[in-house]
Amino acid sequence: YRDLRVALLGCGSVGAQVARLIIEHGDELAARIGARLTLSGIAVRDTTAKRDVDLPQELFTSDAERLVQGSDIVIELMGGIEPAKTLILQALQGGADVVTANKALIAAHGPELAEAAEQVGAQLSYEASVAAAIPILRPLRESLAGDHITRVMGIVNGSTNYILDRMDRFGDSSEDAMRVASELGYLEADPTLDVEGYDAAQKATILASIAFHTEVPVDAVYREGIANITLEQIETAKQAGYVIKLLAIAERITSADGEHGVSARVYPALIRRDHPLAAVYGGKNAVFVEAEAAGELMFYGAGAGGAETASAVLGDVVSAARRHVVGGPGIAGSLHAGLTILPVGEVNTSY
Ligand code: NDP
Ligand code: HSE
Repeated sequence: YRDLRVALLGCGSVGAQVARLIIEHGDELAARIGARLTLSGIAVRDTTAKRDVDLPQELFTSDAERLVQGSDIVIELMGGIEPAKTLILQALQGGADVVTANKALIAAHGPELAEAAEQVGAQLSYEASVAAAIPILRPLRESLAGDHITRVMGIVNGSTNYILDRMDRFGDSSEDAMRVASELGYLEADPTLDVEGYDAAQKATILASIAFHTEVPVDAVYREGIANITLEQIETAKQAGYVIKLLAIAERITSADGEHGVSARVYPALIRRDHPLAAVYGGKNAVFVEAEAAGELMFYGAGAGGAETASAVLGDVVSAARRHVVGGPGIAGSLHAGLTILPVGEVNTSY
């Protein structure tokens, strides 16, 4: 196989897992892609820090700008606006495809970055930026491209869902639940982004922009977080048959004077206990999509976490890598794994 040079920017909760998957699944990925993903380096702030995953020390560098040069694919997992934005622009201008999970950056500068990518014919993808492991952006952009989406509604922040769920089902204090959410790697470096609903608003922006093919600025999203939700409110809701969840909603609406547009909002909402969203526990996310022809669709899975997010990042990386091999998007259709077909084992009838 030929080598594709992959630069990894960031080696925290997500970056370390991405590096692990690239190394551990190297042969399988090479067969699937038709080229080998070779980690050319990992940019971090502290090159001597202990990492979640054992990785060759010589890969680490603090010179992200240099690392980006000459890369085929750049994976940005540092978070924040700068230097991530400048590095992504440099990567694109250098001809690399870019994969990022950075919703703060995409929500604030997505259109500018997409235009920069388009100008040089590079691919910018960010599936992991919304609802982590759940494939949601590609289905909205590609699978539903021929339909007319009317509403996207979901639980898109894993840490606040974890906190509310612990308070609801186990009576934990919000402080205790938040400490565990932090240990699980769910929280942003600045947890107020989660608790005050900024993270969910960024995701609402991305979802709305893709679903409705229109630029939805993040400051146009109405936002309320969970900071003021108390155990007493949760208990009162429970007694009335409801659960409190932080929802992000983006929908087509018609104003009182007949103008058609889009509305996006994030706030803690009461959900009936028999509604499917009420059963989205822990750090899980779920997104409902309503489309004119397809009707209702629901996407469910892990909304946060290092390995879970790394899965979505790698999906984008494989897609970008395939472009280098076949000159267009897509995954190899070849049946390469050579697995033996085994007889049916003991049949489990209950799931
Ligand atoms: P972490 O804070 O765990 O890791 C950030 C990494 O980036 C660290 O390795 C850090 O280096 C490095 N870094 C930060 N700033 C710089 C800089 N200026 N120069 C070089 N390296 C830098 O973040 P996460 O892994 O949790 O998140 C990464 C991205 O993924 C973020 O955009 C986040 O919003 C997004 N995301 C995260 C999810 C999650 O569940 N964690 C889920 C979905 C998206 P050092 O270690 O030396 O400090
Ligand atoms: N802090 C984010 C969350 C990480 O809790 O959902 C995943 O985007």
